[in-house]
Amino acid sequence: MIDFKDIIAKELIKVTNIEEIESYIEIPSNKEMGDYSLPCFKLAKVLKKSPQMIAEDLKEKITLTDEIISKIEVVNGYLNFYINPAAITKALFQEISDKKEQYGSSKIGENENIVIDYSSPNIAKPFHIGHLRSTVIGSALYKIYKYLGYNVTGINHLGDYGTQFGKLIEGYKRWGKEYNIEDNPIDELTKIYIRINELCNKDEKVLEECRNNFKKLEDGDPYCKELWEKFKSLSLKEFQRVYDLLDVKFDSLNGEAFYSDKMPEIIDILNKSGKLIESEGARVINLDEDDMPPCIIEKTNGSTTYATRDLAAIMYRARTYDFDKAIYVTSYEQILHFKQVFKVAKLLGLDKKYTDNLIHVPFGMVLLKEGKMSTREGNIIKLESLLNEAIERARKIIEEKNPNIENKEDIAKKVGIGAIIFNDLYNSRIKDEIFDWDTMLNFNGETGPYLQYMYVRTNSVLEKIEKLPNANELDLSVLSDNTSVKLIKTLYSFGDFIKQAADKNEPYIISRYLINVAKEFSSFYNENKIITDDEKVKNARVYLTYCVNIVLKAGAGLLGMQMPNKM
Ligand code: ARG
Repeated sequence: MIDFKDIIAKELIKVTNIEEIESYIEIPSNKEMGDYSLPCFKLAKVLKKSPQMIAEDLKEKITLTDEIISKIEVVNGYLNFYINPAAITKALFQEISDKKEQYGSSKIGENENIVIDYSSPNIAKPFHIGHLRSTVIGSALYKIYKYLGYNVTGINHLGDYGTQFGKLIEGYKRWGKEYNIEDNPIDELTKIYIRINELCNKDEKVLEECRNNFKKLEDGDPYCKELWEKFKSLSLKEFQRVYDLLDVKFDSLNGEAFYSDKMPEIIDILNKSGKLIESEGARVINLDEDDMPPCIIEKTNGSTTYATRDLAAIMYRARTYDFDKAIYVTSYEQILHFKQVFKVAKLLGLDKKYTDNLIHVPFGMVLLKEGKMSTREGNIIKLESLLNEAIERARKIIEEKNPNIENKEDIAKKVGIGAIIFNDLYNSRIKDEIFDWDTMLNFNGETGPYLQYMYVRTNSVLEKIEKLPNANELDLSVLSDNTSVKLIKTLYSFGDFIKQAADKNEPYIISRYLINVAKEFSSFYNENKIITDDEKVKNARVYLTYCVNIVLKAGAGLLGMQMPNKM
């Protein structure tokens, strides 16, 4: 697509000979200040002139055709460029006509490998709302990076390792027959776990048995291994129902246990680094210098830790995926954990390329309108039922609004799940998320259903025409009213927003952008009659509607939402 920023930058470099001038160019959030703007303050130092004078000077020297630039203005040391709206429209239409559903995608990520660790629930424990956030954010990032051409690997780092499995094995050995773990694995295994824990608290010998089981499991004892496999596959089956509802996929399910035979090497390297020290019977890396508590590598009883497994995973991922970025999506409760692990990773002898590109992407809590959503026993909100409730609520609303609509089930699913996903991705991820049904399902709010509703409107416009007009045969001058121009500029910048979302690992940048598109389309739709008798006007407006249709669907797709054709 024609890149106006690039054209301006080239011209500026030509007249100033300053290469880095390109990086000074800004996109003003207030379009009154131009489509692009060059603040001349940094140049003032180099050129030893006032910013205002520099700006005026540049304005004189620049030769850009009217076809591209309609106006250049000097305001308070800024040089503001106004792009000719017709040029933007032409560029947008041409690009959409070429790329269609792929509009906004690019190849900037070609040859770069991104590894994203997300979802990562714990086997035999409930998949809770925090894991939902990790799943939704991680999956959105996965799609965003892919769209930019990166080679992405999605990893579900399952919590399938630890002494609790020794306990579960013991509990199952004793009372397995009393529990129906086939049909309801997570609930039943949780019950077994609570019961065996109580027994362990009373009887030291049982606890010893549990520890033994875990040891046996690590050593590959067939019986223990078989049970562990069973717990794992039953849990996964249950998790899979949530993934299916959300349409989330992974390239690797290597969980913590996968690294059990890869930890000795890590401990060995750390040992040789001379930094692994004894502390109260445990082996740790001291992080005093970084103002952090020590990172425990081996506990007093000789067992490894969550951190050791993450270190082994870094080593493995560097070797296997040769990553340019390794991203971890978890709640902010793990900020310290990752800071410690990333610091210790520098001792593993890996290339800086890897250790400098470990990125923790933390997110906030999910709060009910009434307060914190607890994950304690008895107060667990089961994810699957939560998602099903969303679908059910969406179905009721749709039935009320449009009782005779076909494919109700499919629409309800898209709207209900879409509402949850959008709500999760609407704010900067570090903010706590408020979980409130009425807000997220409000068709007139800044919500998933609102986006879908606007998308459906574009569909009904497009249904009214026989054939999509040809982008090259349109009279663009009929789109020069303010609302049309505003919408066109917004649609033109889709790709920039996708890149920003990837740079900051913030899907909400796309969510907010899409809300803007929807709102601007709504104004355009209300102010301009699209299907009119004037063929020229009709064709241009229809094509613009088609562009909105494409952008809303592609953008929502990047968030993980699906669009219903009708609702
Ligand atoms: N299973 C962990 C939890 O539920 C999350 C794992 C995140 N990924 C990682 N590589 N540590 O808290």
